[in-house]
Amino acid sequence: MKLNIMQTVVLAGVVLAGAAIAVTTLERPPVQVTQNGYRGVGMQQLSNPRLAEAMAARNQAPQSIVSVPDVGPKAGQLYKNVQVLGDLGVAQFARTMAAITAWVSPEQGCNYCHNPNNMASDEVYTKVVARRMFQMTAALNTQWQDHVQQTGVTCYTCHRGQPVPAYNWSEDTKPPRLAGLSAGQAGQNMPRASVGSTSLPYDPFTPFLEDRPANIRVQGTAIHPNPKVPGTKETEWTYGLMMHMSTSLGVNCTFCHNSRNWSSWEESTPQRMTAWYGIRMVRDINANYITPLTPQWQAHPNGPEGGPVQARLGHEGDALKVNCTTCHQGVNKPLYGAAMAKDYPALLIPQSR
Ligand code: HEC
Ligand code: HEC
Ligand code: HEC
Ligand code: HEC
Repeated sequence: MKLNIMQTVVLAGVVLAGAAIAVTTLERPPVQVTQNGYRGVGMQQLSNPRLAEAMAARNQAPQSIVSVPDVGPKAGQLYKNVQVLGDLGVAQFARTMAAITAWVSPEQGCNYCHNPNNMASDEVYTKVVARRMFQMTAALNTQWQDHVQQTGVTCYTCHRGQPVPAYNWSEDTKPPRLAGLSAGQAGQNMPRASVGSTSLPYDPFTPFLEDRPANIRVQGTAIHPNPKVPGTKETEWTYGLMMHMSTSLGVNCTFCHNSRNWSSWEESTPQRMTAWYGIRMVRDINANYITPLTPQWQAHPNGPEGGPVQARLGHEGDALKVNCTTCHQGVNKPLYGAAMAKDYPALLIPQSR
């Protein structure tokens, strides 16, 4: 068979397009399969050792700073304006300041939160935010052990050496509308990473991870019409959230469910219970800590003239909030379960609700 130029070009195009699809959608072997339930139920986890290696490199916990003896005066006695960490010995207090600088603002240093001429002043908004973040982190470690166990979290779990955690979400309920037939797309059909590049609703966070959440259900226990029966919307959001949970932990659905009966708790793995607490914990973080700090971030000079360009608020004006990826970043236990928090008494101070 002889091809003319036009046919050759078209054929080359087809071959290239085919290769592009194969490269971007298929995973290069080897793929490992691990059995996660009884034999024959298909509860399997797929993993790829090559990708796991890259993942491991990105999720190393930093070394803890050498511990210090608990001697000397308390920070609350020595300093002028210590409202949360007052019971720490002064050496432990200094060690804590060094640690949060490394975790949150290593490039900017102490002055990211302080006026160097008056360390006691609260004039820099990041200091006010950081004080609340101390309370939040301690609450996670002392009140949410049903989720974080003894592993706990530090500022680094979310921040990873930068002032704004890389993985966050903000409301995305009103996308620019398209014209014609695609108008009224109900926040979906525009594949986004937030829901694993599916066409599911790409903001399952606003309905599920804030203060007055909808029910994460696809099956009702009553008869229509009844407000307790989930509709199409709840169902789509539920699958959207499940895609988010799976991708942020780097696991398949069967890490938590037996897919013959998604809703049955008896047939689910213990990890599903941990995830259930995780959802409640994330709501607590967003509703009681992050969102109330919104006025602080409004004070941040957004935009080119005002300093750092990186915005602190979403495009609907809400704060940048937490979801599963903020901590997990692709692995089933953040930082592979490195237990950093126990080395920092400042992060274990019991909090009142
Ligand atoms: C991410 C924000 C942040 C960074 C970075 C930071 N601090 Fe602080 N610092 C705070 C907060 C919040 C308090 C108040 C704690 C409280 O109220 O319990 C504080 C309080 C202090 C105080 C007590 C001042 C007083 O008289 O009340 C000193 C001293 C201090 N920090 C030193 C440092 C040093 C030194 C560094 C750099 C190694 C540093 N801080 C980096 C947030 C920060
Ligand atoms: C559960 C995740 C999480 C943990 C743990 C956490 N933070 Fe944050 N923090 C966030 C998010 C999300 C933002 C960004 C919010 C925004 O910009 O709207 C933030 C913002 C901040 C900011 C403001 C930065 C800026 O430039 O505006 C400071 C300062 C900060 N955190 C300090 C801390 C400190 C100190 C700790 C540990 C005591 C800590 N954070 C623990 C999630 C977390
Ligand atoms: C990390 C654990 C975890 C993973 C992974 C996970 N789920 Fe879920 N799933 C849950 C939890 C927890 C709930 C219940 C949420 C609640 O009640 O707050 C749930 C609820 C559901 C429901 C609603 C059941 C009902 O009673 O109506 C469906 C359907 C579902 N998941 C499907 C999936 C699918 C499909 C995947 C994979 C794309 C998946 N899940 C991945 C933990 C998980
Ligand atoms: C504030 C940080 C943080 C956030 C946010 C977070 N997790 Fe976790 N999660 C942890 C830590 C820490 C552990 C490890 C606990 C342990 O050592 O068993 C963990 C463990 C888990 C496990 C158990 C894994 C296993 O191998 O046993 C599941 C499942 C899980 N998280 C699901 C979720 C889901 C789903 C979300 C979002 C709704 C979420 N997490 C949000 C910190 C977080």
